[in-house]
Amino acid sequence: MTSTWAAPGRVNLIGEHVDYNDGLVLPFALPFVTTARVAARSDDAVKVASEDVGEAEFATTVSPGDVEEWVAYVAGIVWALRQRGTTLPGLDIALSSNVPLGAGLSSSASLTCSVASAINDECSLGFDARELADVSRIAENDFVGVPTGTMDQLASMLCQSEHLLLLDCRSMETRLIPFAPSASGLTLLLIDSQARHSLVGSEYGDRRRDCEAAADALGVGSLRDATLDQASSLPDDRLRRRASHVVSEIDRVQRVAAVLDTGSPADIGTYLTSSHESMRDDFEISCEELDVLVDAALSGGALGARMTGGGFGGCAVVLCRKGDVESVTSRVQSAYDERGWEQPMVWTPEPAQGAHRIN
Ligand code: GLA
Repeated sequence: MTSTWAAPGRVNLIGEHVDYNDGLVLPFALPFVTTARVAARSDDAVKVASEDVGEAEFATTVSPGDVEEWVAYVAGIVWALRQRGTTLPGLDIALSSNVPLGAGLSSSASLTCSVASAINDECSLGFDARELADVSRIAENDFVGVPTGTMDQLASMLCQSEHLLLLDCRSMETRLIPFAPSASGLTLLLIDSQARHSLVGSEYGDRRRDCEAAADALGVGSLRDATLDQASSLPDDRLRRRASHVVSEIDRVQRVAAVLDTGSPADIGTYLTSSHESMRDDFEISCEELDVLVDAALSGGALGARMTGGGFGGCAVVLCRKGDVESVTSRVQSAYDERGWEQPMVWTPEPAQGAHRIN
């Protein structure tokens, strides 16, 4: 038998760097997927063939440190499933992906979630979507060694087409919110700044530590439990600004969800822009390219714009009226031209389906 599953990359409309602070996030699945075709073997070899990056082989008993680079994401799933007490046979795994790499669109979560879903199905392991998201996060955190929060894998597993996923990262409750900007005469642009700053790994860990230190200083379990007044009272300037971002960002997610519930998506623009300002000034995770992109989009008539994802490069989301798409994109392109930067990629993605079986 073979089992083939596709799992998407994601973009977060709003709620950045709050998932590991027990906060609320609002991602949707992109129409870009990694597809994993898995077949059980009669020995204990795992043979992986990727259309894009080549071939690799390891044993089902693989441990952290045994393999590197992209293979580690696949081996991490085999390892994390075994940590859960499963016995796996050898596997043939064939991969293909059209998720843009390095653009902050969770190509890695789409890879781990597709592989976890296909192995779960092929080997009748019986894990549900949330458990598979957890297996995928553990593979990234403990096998690959990337300290992600909970958002990317849950988004890849649980998102639904035409909806945003409001995810409470403390209770793990989810609510689907219909999101079809075009029905309101709007367009949501996803623009890849083309910036790829290597800072992202170490800075991400630094931000997590700052948030923990701020929560400790305030005597709360996590910044989810802090108020803006409390955050503003922190004597340490850096921790004060980090905490202010997290507390205000969680509030913005709630406001955006409430606005969308009343069916007036144009009104979320202002929250998108204030989210960007908060990440630029207080959380300090933006970069010149993203700031230029966001400013140019706003000066071209966008209703709101913000960087999205971990920061230091990657993509921005821009909300504008359909009639303003031309002026917004041409303003961004001119700003890039003036600086001699490579032109940004522009997509207009509609919310797509989370992980799903193919045939
Ligand atoms: C990365 C992490 C996520 C989340 C975002 C920021 O994508 O993998 O868990 O923390 O950054 O919101």
